[in-house]
Amino acid sequence: MNGRALETALLDDVRARLATGRTGAGAAVRDAVRDSGRVLGSDALRDLERSARAELTGAGPLQPLLDAADVTDVLVNGPHDVWVERGAGLERVPVGLGSTADVRALAVRLAALGGQRLDDACPTVDARLPDGTRLHAVLEPLAESGALISLRVLRTRAFTIDELVVGRALPRQWAGLLRALVRRRANVLISGGTGSGKTTLLAALLSLVPDDERVVTVEEARELRPAHPHVVHLAARRANVEGAGAVDLADLVRNALRMRPDRIVLGECRGAEVREVLMAMNTGHDGGFATLHANAVAVVPARLEALAGLAGMTREAVAAQAAGALDVVLHLRRRQGTRYLAEVGLVGRGPGGELEVRPAAWWDGGERCAADPAAWSELVGRYGPW
Ligand SMILES: Nc1ncnc2c1ncn2[C@@H]1O[C@H](COP(=O)(O)OP(=O)(O)O)[C@@H](O)[C@H]1O
Ligand SMILES: [Mg+2]
Repeated sequence: MNGRALETALLDDVRARLATGRTGAGAAVRDAVRDSGRVLGSDALRDLERSARAELTGAGPLQPLLDAADVTDVLVNGPHDVWVERGAGLERVPVGLGSTADVRALAVRLAALGGQRLDDACPTVDARLPDGTRLHAVLEPLAESGALISLRVLRTRAFTIDELVVGRALPRQWAGLLRALVRRRANVLISGGTGSGKTTLLAALLSLVPDDERVVTVEEARELRPAHPHVVHLAARRANVEGAGAVDLADLVRNALRMRPDRIVLGECRGAEVREVLMAMNTGHDGGFATLHANAVAVVPARLEALAGLAGMTREAVAAQAAGALDVVLHLRRRQGTRYLAEVGLVGRGPGGELEVRPAAWWDGGERCAADPAAWSELVGRYGPW
C-alpha cells in the first residue's frame, strides 16, 4: 500500500469510528492506526490526525487554503478546478479533490457542517460553517457536473478606518467624513457589487459607534464582526423540510425595532425588508446602516425601487420614504482584486420628485480624488466639521 492509499484507508476507518458517535477525532485516529498494524512516527501521526480533522470537521482538502492568512475566497468548479482569491485576482491552485462524486460528497458534508441539507430535493445551499466561513454550493443538474462550491472566509477582526486608508481602500481625505457620519448619526447605505467590500466597510464603521450604544444587526447569515462591546445579531431562518418556521429579514427588522436598538443594521437589503428598514429610519431610528448590491451609484434608486416593489411599494412611495430615510450612499468598487470606496453620494429627490443620489465626491482608487463643490459643502454643513 502506498502512502496515499494507506491514508485513504485509514481515513475511511477513522470516519467509520467517528460515525458511531462514541469517540473523538484524536482517539479515532490513534485506534485506526493501531488496528491497521502500522507503526507511525509522531510526525506522521500528527499529520494524519490533522488531515483527519480537516476531512471530518473542516473543509477537508480545502482547509489549508481556507487557513492561509491572505485567502478570502475558495472556489471549486470541479475536482481539478480550484481557485483562490488572495487579493490580486483569482488564481488557480493545484489541489486535487478526487472525482466529481467526491466534490459532490464534500459539498454535502460542508452543508451538513453548516446545519443545512443539500441533496436532489434541495440542490442549493447557503450556510455558515462553524468557523464562520460562508458556504454556497449547487449540485448537479443545476451545476454542470458534481457540484460547485464557493467559500468566503470570514475575517475575524474588523479593519479600523486607518487600516482601510493604509490598505488604499479609502482616501485619507474622507476618513474624517466617515467618522463624522457615524458620530452625527447619518443613515448610511453602502452600495457596491459582489465582494466589493460592503460588509467589510460596514464592520469598520460599526466599530466607530460609541461603546454605550446598542447595535442590533439583521443578516441573512451572520457575517458582521464589528469591534464593539454591545452588538446583538439576528440571522434569518429558512423554512424546515415541511416548509414551516421561516423567519425572514423583514420579520427580523420588525423585531429589532422592539429590542431598544440605538443602531439598526441590515446586513444586506435583498428584498421586501427594504420597506421595514426605510420605515424604521423614517420613524426616528437614525444612525442606521444597510448595504445594497448595486454596480453603480446611478442604479441605486432603481435597485431600491425594485426591492421595495417586492413589498408592494409604488415608485412614488419609495422615493418619498427613501429620500426621508437615507442620508448618504457610500459606493464601493472592485477592480483587479482591489476594493475601494469610489463615491460618496447624497440621497434626495430630483426635480420631478424622483429618488436621486447626487454624487458628492469620487476617488479612482489611486491619486485622483475630486468633489462636487456644492454637494461637498452640503456634507460639511450637515456633518462637519471633522
Ligand atoms: N479593504 C479591504 N482590504 C482587504 N480585504 C478586503 C477589503 N475589503 C474587503 N476585503 C475582503 O474581500 C472579501 C469581500 O468583502 P466583503 O466585505 O464581504 O464584500 P461584500 O460585502 O461587498 O460582498 C472579504 O473576504 C473581505 O475580507
Ligand atoms: Mg456582504
